[in-house]
Amino acid sequence: MKTYSECIRTPSQIQFPELFSFSCSAQQLHELQASVLSYGKLNLHNQKKPRTLWADQLSKLTLPKYYFCHFYVIGLATSVICLIEMLAWTQYNKPLLLISLLQRFDNDVGSRHLSLRQCTVGFTLMTIHLIRRVYESFLVERPSKTATMHFSHYLIGVGFYGAMVLGTWLEGASNFEIWSHQSARYDNESQRDGSFENITMVFSILLFLYATYHQYRCHSILASLRQKSSASTETTAISKNGYSIPKGDWFDILVTPHYFADILIYVSLNILYHFNNYIFLCGLIWTIVNLSITANETKQWYVRHFQNAFPKDRYRIIPGCY
Ligand SMILES: NC(=O)c1ccc[n+]([C@@H]2O[C@H](COP(=O)([O-])OP(=O)(O)OC[C@H]3O[C@@H](n4cnc5c(N)ncnc54)[C@H](OP(=O)(O)O)[C@@H]3O)[C@@H](O)[C@H]2O)c1
Repeated sequence: MKTYSECIRTPSQIQFPELFSFSCSAQQLHELQASVLSYGKLNLHNQKKPRTLWADQLSKLTLPKYYFCHFYVIGLATSVICLIEMLAWTQYNKPLLLISLLQRFDNDVGSRHLSLRQCTVGFTLMTIHLIRRVYESFLVERPSKTATMHFSHYLIGVGFYGAMVLGTWLEGASNFEIWSHQSARYDNESQRDGSFENITMVFSILLFLYATYHQYRCHSILASLRQKSSASTETTAISKNGYSIPKGDWFDILVTPHYFADILIYVSLNILYHFNNYIFLCGLIWTIVNLSITANETKQWYVRHFQNAFPKDRYRIIPGCY
């Protein structure tokens, strides 16, 4: 068997196939950006047009952007299903579909590093987040009827929230005694530092509520812009194509404060799990990378769209940093 160092190659040893695939990927990145990545207002005056036939065809697979609400409805439905499954199992010892699948195809390995309290609080916070987003989607936001997103965005969005709900408890599933003959409910049960868990739990709940409040405020500000802009002319520097320059709350320092609040929500959940829940760590990394890219494009869009009227001192997404 080859050792690790034998498997690693120096840059000079990298072969033609690797270079060829790097070069192809770099070329296709522009095409992917032009056809798939932009959504909503970023598609207006999008200067990155697909140059190849495949990218052009791919770019036509779009759906209305207000279908974003489906993500939260499906996420919330997953929460309700999980709750029913857990109640049926813990109260009546009756395994429904999910629990039966886990019993049949999984085991307790890798499901013992989170405590029952972390799982139940995490599940509750994620469900509150989804209830709020469903409420905002239907009763607060004023999405445009013409804005679109790519079909692949839709699939990722639907999968993301379902995965996050399952992620709140799957890595601590042995707490629910799903598998018989399991060795331990929770790996560190005996050595667990209860006071440390209490402190991180209180801190994570407070951070979650703080970020939730600000995200709600920012979404309300965006919705109010649309009410105002529909009353004013569509051609002024303040309102173009139904979009205006947001002001108030964290908008005074950030271009996309609602994205920053989203990141804080996933940070708070990771604090709750002591950064030990791998599904939520992936969720946090995904959210930071995805929303930072979109925030950068959003700032460019505002500057292009509103020129000097847009305050250039606003950070894209992270105060004082980016
Ligand atoms: N966790 C993740 O990976 C992830 C990914 C994406 C989004 N999200 C979250 O989902 C929420 C919505 O995201 P989004 O990308 O849809 O945000 P967005 O593009 O800023 O849109 C939010 C709403 O505000 C409207 N809007 C945006 N800018 C406006 C302006 N200048 N003037 C008037 N109305 C404006 C939009 O209208 P249109 O309908 O015309 O677009 C839409 O209805 C955010 O809080 C975000 O954090 C999370």
